[in-house]
Amino acid sequence: MATFPAQRPRRLRRTPAVRRLVAEIRLHPADLILPVFVREGLTQPEPISSMPGVFQHTEKSLLQAADDAALLGLGGIMLFGIPSVRDAHGSAGLDPEGILNRSIAAVKERVGDALPVMSDLCLDEFTDHGHCGVLDDQGAVDNDRTLGLYARMAAVQAAAGADVVAPSGMMDGQVEVIRAALDDAGHQNVAILAYSAKYASAYYGPFREAVDSQLTGDRRQYQMDAANRTEAIKETELDLAEGADMVMVKPAGSYLDILSDVAEVADVPVSAYQVSGEYAMIEAAAANGWIDRRAVVLESLTAIRRAGATSVLTYYAAEAARWIREDQ
Ligand code: PBG
Repeated sequence: MATFPAQRPRRLRRTPAVRRLVAEIRLHPADLILPVFVREGLTQPEPISSMPGVFQHTEKSLLQAADDAALLGLGGIMLFGIPSVRDAHGSAGLDPEGILNRSIAAVKERVGDALPVMSDLCLDEFTDHGHCGVLDDQGAVDNDRTLGLYARMAAVQAAAGADVVAPSGMMDGQVEVIRAALDDAGHQNVAILAYSAKYASAYYGPFREAVDSQLTGDRRQYQMDAANRTEAIKETELDLAEGADMVMVKPAGSYLDILSDVAEVADVPVSAYQVSGEYAMIEAAAANGWIDRRAVVLESLTAIRRAGATSVLTYYAAEAARWIREDQ
């Protein structure tokens, strides 16, 4: 005798154990990549006020963070450097002894092959105008002259010990010149994680404080317009053709449609970056007691994975990894 209703999806939601059995997405520490900031000349870690719980590291505290990340079995660590001196060409980013490059070397020496060491490959932290490349006479970012600097930056980061370089500047042709520069310098085994679909986003606000950004204005002439979806596929296909080993969508939470599209077309692993503003919003609401912090963090990461990310860059990486361990 048929009863009503015939279909009862709730059967599979009845207990935590049944829900665990049928979960399509599982978070794992190895899916999570920790972005870290290291600042030249700091004597103690400096809190970032718009990102409670995140610090600018000293060169020493950076190693502690790398140790933790390795111990937790994270997917990787992504380094951003903040120099004490900047200029129009971002020279400190190309200097093998500059803060970012010497930190790559120090972290690599500390963790070896236990944790993939990744480096942001961009000039904005190093330029005195805060743009991701050099400027032309009109004050616009000069795509082709910037490419030459990225090529040199890639070779220096690889020589320092980066396992993965991550070009985030959104210059046309950047993946191709970086691949060629790496290969020419004998770094065939260094991988490229391309920020392929990177949007000009207001969600990067707190990051500007984190890296003491000198930027006035915005990056709309080179980063993507939030209105565009098809273009993300174009950008991804270009980066794949140029030799990207992995691609990324950024930001994550407000761009899950983009992430889903990119995951569909990419035949390489896809990352997504839960950016500073996403972090800050969760922290602010949680600090007011308006949301359950842990539950929202894990839900946001699950949603990003569900949309198609194989890995997630998140300031919650270490904490979330501890929660995941606890929950198992
Ligand atoms: C550029 C870069 C930015 C972020 C990562 N790499 C800033 C920008 O493009 O303006 C933002 C990350 C975040 O907001 O967490 N080097």
